[in-house]
Amino acid sequence: MKRMLSIIAILALLLCGCAQEAPPEQELTKVGFSQLGAESDWRVANTDSMIAALSEENGYELLYDNARQKQANQLVAVRNFIVQGVDIIVIAPLEETGWDTVLQEAKNAHIPVIIVDREVAVEDTGRYLTQIGSDFLAEGEQAVSWLEKAMAQHQGDVSILHIQGTYGATAQLLRTKAIEEAVQAHENWHFAAQLPGDFTETKGYEVVRDFLAENRDIDVIYSENDNMTFGAMRALDEAGITYGRGGDVTIISFDAVRRALQLCMEGKIDLCVECSPLHGPRVDELIRQYLAGEPIPKQIFVEETIFTPDTLTPEILAQREY
Ligand code: AHR
Repeated sequence: MKRMLSIIAILALLLCGCAQEAPPEQELTKVGFSQLGAESDWRVANTDSMIAALSEENGYELLYDNARQKQANQLVAVRNFIVQGVDIIVIAPLEETGWDTVLQEAKNAHIPVIIVDREVAVEDTGRYLTQIGSDFLAEGEQAVSWLEKAMAQHQGDVSILHIQGTYGATAQLLRTKAIEEAVQAHENWHFAAQLPGDFTETKGYEVVRDFLAENRDIDVIYSENDNMTFGAMRALDEAGITYGRGGDVTIISFDAVRRALQLCMEGKIDLCVECSPLHGPRVDELIRQYLAGEPIPKQIFVEETIFTPDTLTPEILAQREY
């Protein structure tokens, strides 16, 4: 009997101990993230950063949708998030226009929306909580002021081949604005052509290959992202045109992903303008601030820099996360 009693006592203690050690139930924040696609190395790094930050370990239940370069798919995804009653919606928009109605629908459902990377152009900015991304105009202006110095000793006209990203995307509109204003401001600068590259390596290659078949008179390539630059370099190689340090064509590229930085350090790209894709931890922080009722600025620009063969080192490359 004594033995039986002590077994019961031990069992009771164990049960009691277990009950005390059970972790408190933590409610996950349900986030719907609409990513525009997977067109570039930059975009893949951006998706990875968002998924890593909005993980279950960090307290999130993430509903992720890849719109495959179609705004219509993004609108469907956002409406699905609303139906599923998410706590927050995050959108990386393909282009700036076309968001008024769906953002109003999210607002009517009392779901805050964070815009990440590119911007949206809506009548009423009260339809979203905040926007975080790059200052794309500043990026373009940095490229232009570097080019002014690089071309200071250039004799005669400066012929610029401009490869543009997806039309209507903030990254395209503002990088384009910077170079168009610069061409207007310099009498001897002109566009050899402005070609649509859609931020992809394949398109960048195809449009430059076709252009070079008709016209080889270019001094500068201003390419609105690294993947289009990689494609353009392949077309230049095939055409037997030299580029980079000591070459015939000066190359300016945007993003500064690791592969581009490597080429820049080797002197094959003259200027890499940084565009940071690592928005995951920043969005996580914004969500926490929102949930804590803290004030949030309407627009947040991230810090970025530029790289040249002179400023790049193997250490910088080794530390590059993307
Ligand atoms: O919006 C950021 C741009 O989109 C990056 O420059 C480009 O690589 C990406 O596809």
